[in-house]
Amino acid sequence: MAGHNPWPNEGNTGHIWDEDIRELDNPPPLWWMLAFYAGFIMIIFYAIYYPTIPLANGFTKGIAGWTAIKEYEESYNELKAWRKQKFADKEEKLASLPLADIMKDTDLKLYAVATSKMLYGDNCAACHGAGGMGNPNFPVLADDDWLWGGHINQIHASIANGRVGNMPARGMMGNLSDEEIEQVTDYVMALSQGKGNDPAVAAGKAVYAKGMCLACHGPNGKPLAPNGAANLTDQIWRFVPFNDGTCKSMVEKTQRDAVLRTIKYGVNVKKNGDLIDCTREGAMPAWKGRLSDKDIKRLAIYVHELGGGQ
Ligand code: HEC
Ligand code: HEC
Repeated sequence: MAGHNPWPNEGNTGHIWDEDIRELDNPPPLWWMLAFYAGFIMIIFYAIYYPTIPLANGFTKGIAGWTAIKEYEESYNELKAWRKQKFADKEEKLASLPLADIMKDTDLKLYAVATSKMLYGDNCAACHGAGGMGNPNFPVLADDDWLWGGHINQIHASIANGRVGNMPARGMMGNLSDEEIEQVTDYVMALSQGKGNDPAVAAGKAVYAKGMCLACHGPNGKPLAPNGAANLTDQIWRFVPFNDGTCKSMVEKTQRDAVLRTIKYGVNVKKNGDLIDCTREGAMPAWKGRLSDKDIKRLAIYVHELGGGQ
């Protein structure tokens, strides 16, 4: 094969097959070599510029200071800026429009709800539970049973200014005896089952009048207008047997015990500036000044749309 080379001057390698197929020894084309060298230079540049070479403890960091986290943060900030610009219009409307107008704008309302979830989770869920489902001794926000009213303006006022429900211990004059408290407790339990007129609880009904419970809870157990007092004609109890250590004088086992405790010791009853033993404690903090006016509006809409808004 190599012994006989009929093309000695063309620069072939001497490998010849099938009589005339030769392997030539040409240099690669210039463009190819340039690309090859350029690629090589790129690798060196890359290795200097970016984190590249693994070491025993880590890797070379590169002069660009690039990290995956930084790149992520940059694109995240870009996205945030984009969102801010995209929703600037809605944010502006939330800030400037009165609530009544916002409530008429379905789009804006949905936007307020969607952007409230974090705000609610950070500031409200600890007391009112996730999604407004309530916690023992804190009112549920996701139903249509309102202490202070379910109109958007009432909800807004509850959040902005805070609310403190006050109920005296042992009736308005504080003069109900233990026996009368037992009787009126039976009456309240009957009321919650729609049996307020049952003759068996007639004595309790009389105590209800004597204790002037009706001044706050209404003549039939339902406040005439929202005033912070509970509707007693439903089965929604804010104060359930909880035994959280705030009451040394009694142990609550049943819902009746919980009702009795509320009637006997009241709600937020203070003596010399301190809450008395066993009184129910509960205050809704005011958020004006702590949250922006816009965020308070946003939350009012969110609570209103949880289900029970009127
Ligand atoms: C420290 C616990 C606590 C936190 C935090 C809290 N609340 Fe309240 N909230 C209460 C209590 C207690 C009441 C009931 C007050 C009363 O007894 O009248 C209440 C009442 C309300 C009411 C009135 C309910 C009704 O039935 O009329 C609304 C609305 C409300 N809260 C919304 C919010 C929102 C929104 C947030 C978050 C910004 C929030 N709350 C944070 C404890 C809290
Ligand atoms: C000055 C107004 C006022 C008077 C008078 C009053 N209450 Fe209340 N009552 C309230 C407030 C405020 C609350 C606390 C808010 C709530 O209901 O969650 C409350 C709570 C209750 C609860 C707890 C409801 C629940 O869901 O756990 C019961 C039961 C109750 N009252 C019964 C009575 C009875 C019986 C009397 C009369 C002996 C009476 N109240 C007198 C204002 C009043």
